[in-house]
Amino acid sequence: MTNAPISIRPARTADAHALAALSIQVWLATYTEGVSDLFARHVLSEFTPEKFLSLLNASDVVLHIAEVDERLVGYSLVRSGVPQPLVPEADSELCTLYVQEPFTRCGVGSTLLQTASESHDRLWLLVNVQNLRACRFYEKHGFVVRGSTDFVLGEGRHRNHVLARPQRG
Ligand SMILES: CC(C)(COP(=O)(O)OP(=O)(O)OC[C@H]1O[C@@H](n2cnc3c(N)ncnc32)[C@H](O)[C@@H]1OP(=O)(O)O)[C@@H](O)C(=O)NCCC(=O)NCCS
Repeated sequence: MTNAPISIRPARTADAHALAALSIQVWLATYTEGVSDLFARHVLSEFTPEKFLSLLNASDVVLHIAEVDERLVGYSLVRSGVPQPLVPEADSELCTLYVQEPFTRCGVGSTLLQTASESHDRLWLLVNVQNLRACRFYEKHGFVVRGSTDFVLGEGRHRNHVLARPQRG
């Protein structure tokens, strides 16, 4: 928990290393109990400064970070132009919303989601069905289940809800 002010801003290339490190920490803490070779290889290949640099240069990606005392505590990543058959009215995916554990439950996730929703009014996203904290978080923010899909990693299949907000009007 923190009472320090949280600031949100677009990510810059100088943030690439911190983004990679925070991503590895949050991914392992959220999805693993013990680090297998498969999980280690996944995070070390998926979350690299080089990949974040390329995301920051991509015209279809919007990446915002949350900082406390000029340190990274969370980020959101939205990619536009990504169709989802279960949500035909939306073509922007909230690909990642990560908050470092000591800063959870302080409103950081909600603020990042609000910022992402301001630039993309029709978002869809995937959430692991066993990630109950995140499921509750998105439910609180008006997202509903539109179907499901599997995330495959090695031999493992991980069921994900496809979520979106109901259309207005
Ligand atoms: C899910 C996540 C993004 C939420 O971010 P956060 O900064 O903790 O969320 P907020 O503080 O804005 O919480 C907003 C609401 O979400 C719900 N919520 C958040 N954490 C919760 C928890 N542990 N238990 C129950 N509800 C919770 C609550 O309704 C909360 O409102 P409240 O505190 O007024 O009751 C964050 O926990 C996280 O990064 N988790 C690890 C990575 C992850 O799972 N990302 C999502 C993958 S799709």
